Amino acid sequence: MRKRIIAGNWKMNMDHIEGSSLASLILEGIGEKELPCEVVVIPPFTTLPAVAEVFAGSKVDTGAQDLWYEDAGAFTGEISGSMISRLGCRYVLVGHSERRHILGEGSGILALKLRAALRAGLTPIYCVGEAAEERESGNAEDVVEKQVREVLEGLGPEEISRTVVAYEPVWAIGTGKTATPEDASGMHSFIRGLIAGIFDKEAAGRILILYGGSVKPGNASELLGCGDIDGALVGGASLDAGQFLGIIFS
Ligand code: 13P
Repeated sequence: MRKRIIAGNWKMNMDHIEGSSLASLILEGIGEKELPCEVVVIPPFTTLPAVAEVFAGSKVDTGAQDLWYEDAGAFTGEISGSMISRLGCRYVLVGHSERRHILGEGSGILALKLRAALRAGLTPIYCVGEAAEERESGNAEDVVEKQVREVLEGLGPEEISRTVVAYEPVWAIGTGKTATPEDASGMHSFIRGLIAGIFDKEAAGRILILYGGSVKPGNASELLGCGDIDGALVGGASLDAGQFLGIIFS
């Protein structure tokens, strides 16, 4: 049985003051309740230390939204994997669609970033997903296959066992349009099949594949009820403690 992860990607929202308040509200909402899944909060870099402090010693994990692919050195403006892990973070996003599309990150740099995350002892959450035109033209699976192969091929068995994939169709991000549970779970099983082909059945059975794109309390349980969907990467709804808790306990 695979575990489930609900991760909240705060994107470029919540400064360190707003972020610690939101983190405290999330903790209060959880209270003494048993968490039905692993919960990860992924704030901006400057908010991360404050949020990591609020969650220290709690059941909630933290993650970063990006990292650089070298471990240290003359890379002005960049943040290394070890800087992130020393804050107590366990996760880091790699290849979020906003970085692919707005900042032009492609497979070459993402493969390096994913390996840097693993080197630093972090769990990379590798994001893949097709744009609207690619789905409309029937190319969604080809696009996702390329994203998976170009970045994950060549990882060792131990490395793939520490990697999480998030399927986030670009057209569903921040739009209120969600993939139907059938479309989402179809793509998730396609990705699992790719992992079986590139690695083996054991790696495919073990890898967690999260869904992202307009996940809300109202649609979470239907999406999470699909066999191949192992959790959610939540954007907008993770900025509201009530909505985020609604998804966690859905
Ligand atoms: P929304 O939940 O706002 O659609 O964002 C999804 C996302 O990009 C999470 O990484």
